[in-house]
Amino acid sequence: MCGIVGYIGEKNSVPILINGLKRLEYRGYDSAGLGILTNSHSVVIKNKGKVSLLEERVEKSNLSGKVGIGHTRWATHGVPNETNAHPHYNSSKNLFVIHNGIIENFRTLKKGLEKLGYEFQTETDSEVLPHLIDSFLKKGYPLFKAVRLALTEVEGTYGIAVIYENEPDKIVAARKGSPLVIGLGDNENFVASDVSAILAHTKQVIYLEDGELVEVYKDKFIVKTISDAEIEKEVHEISMTLDEIDKGGFSHFMLKEIMEQPETINNSMRGRILYDKGTAILGGLTDVLGRLVNSKRIIITACGTSWHAGLVGEYMFEQFCRIPTEVEYASEFRYRNPIINQDDAILFISQSGETADTLAALREAKLKGALVLGICNVVGSSIARETMAGVYTHAGPEIGVASTKAFTSQLVVLSLITLLVARRKNMSQAEGISIAEELMALPDKINKILKLNDQIEQIASEFKDANNFLYLGRGYNFPVALEGALKLKEISYIHAEGYPAAEMKHGPIALIDENMPVVFIAPKDSTYDKIISNIEEVKARGGRIIAIATDNDNGIDELVDYTIKVPSTIKMLMPILTVIPLQLLAYQIAVKKGLNVDQPRNLAKSVTVE
Ligand code: M6R
Repeated sequence: MCGIVGYIGEKNSVPILINGLKRLEYRGYDSAGLGILTNSHSVVIKNKGKVSLLEERVEKSNLSGKVGIGHTRWATHGVPNETNAHPHYNSSKNLFVIHNGIIENFRTLKKGLEKLGYEFQTETDSEVLPHLIDSFLKKGYPLFKAVRLALTEVEGTYGIAVIYENEPDKIVAARKGSPLVIGLGDNENFVASDVSAILAHTKQVIYLEDGELVEVYKDKFIVKTISDAEIEKEVHEISMTLDEIDKGGFSHFMLKEIMEQPETINNSMRGRILYDKGTAILGGLTDVLGRLVNSKRIIITACGTSWHAGLVGEYMFEQFCRIPTEVEYASEFRYRNPIINQDDAILFISQSGETADTLAALREAKLKGALVLGICNVVGSSIARETMAGVYTHAGPEIGVASTKAFTSQLVVLSLITLLVARRKNMSQAEGISIAEELMALPDKINKILKLNDQIEQIASEFKDANNFLYLGRGYNFPVALEGALKLKEISYIHAEGYPAAEMKHGPIALIDENMPVVFIAPKDSTYDKIISNIEEVKARGGRIIAIATDNDNGIDELVDYTIKVPSTIKMLMPILTVIPLQLLAYQIAVKKGLNVDQPRNLAKSVTVE
């Protein structure tokens, strides 16, 4: 979704901002722009389309200046075009604003400003900001105060950065519901919506909280609340490296991230398994463990792929911890006044830790007094900071919009929580040890699956022109069917549905003919015979079948058109293995269709608006 980067210092800000915007491209965007304060005047350059186009235009113009802001826009109000791209400015064109989020009361604000004589150029909600701030500047307030007073009138969400020709020694930034970090350098400072934009320059950051504004100079910064109280901020050191956010020789981030999974799974487990005791240790949960173990119900809340991980978590928690578990879409949970009790534990799962619906659901749950926990990948993200306790997945930066390694790491963390809680309840040491053993064997098994990439590429050639796909699985592999279908549709734009295999007879079977590829997730487990019956039913109707089976299954090959064989593990961990061929299948199909795998159309990596 939209990205923000800002620079103030002694260097030319233009290449720093362009490189920062390139680092933000993975978030998804449709237009890009820069606002630069130069020695003589201020300049805005913006366009629909890629940052590379902006870069070409900037290079031709020889633009240079020591203070600037840059933005990638993901359209919410108004079509993607040059006019609607950020920065937006006041009528005198000396005040520039970039904005992430949505101004919900922009129509009311716009009407008020129009009455004062302000003229609007764009269809965006964001354009009210420069005019509103301008109206306070005209009353004689300095920039910082003008921004603060303007924001008291704004309803909705924002991460903003503002520069003003008449006060060229500062960038003013503010946050409510849209992340912002300030990067601290040597006689230079940065503003960004995501640390990856400034990582090449500094690892020292402060995270802005909702309701905070910052005045950033090249050599200092002042943070205040929207009600004008000055606050001290803690400086954090980022552990992420630049290598982690590069493609590392792979043609796409998605492929790199799929291939990294043996290592990322290891990182999610490292130091967390107490093998001899058959349990796990999760430092982030220590203080709340008693409350979690004794909770009467667990509600897992998330969106998209993280929600699919939650479904697998439900099976784990109910099977081993014997705690009733529900899984909710965050977007539904937040609005339907859910029944939440003091002895509920609510677990929020989010790769980015910034998903707007998940964050809002979290705040609602917290208000109602439940134990609020998180599983996040991005360290220091809003969800990680606002939950009472939690566990990081440690999968490293995930840049591809389609989530892959984050999903398998979420499943590992859910398994570790299961082990930890179940061992406090009824699970025996022997069972705990066997789960620990299976967890530790996963990286090698994933390595074996990744070697099937060439075979999967051939299957992708066969099916790349299909218009529809059906994914079917049972038990722990039903969420994998949903995830496989989501992967395919988001990057290949092929319509795909995931179903519990037994539900096929209740409707989807009507779709089956020779044009409908059906992917069965069919490991040899207690549901195997049932799923074989479902395979027969599809076969009888001429459907083409791809089966994800276990390598001890010799009989399945003659029943289906293509088999992808994965190593076996215990049922609860099987999704960590069965999902990988589905990630590769979606990837290979999208590549064969010549699509933009890492930045699929209309999608954003981090959905920070409703
Ligand atoms: O960052 P989050 O895990 O909260 O994101 C949730 C979804 O937006 C995300 O999983 C989305 O569905 C991915 N594009 C799936 O690949």
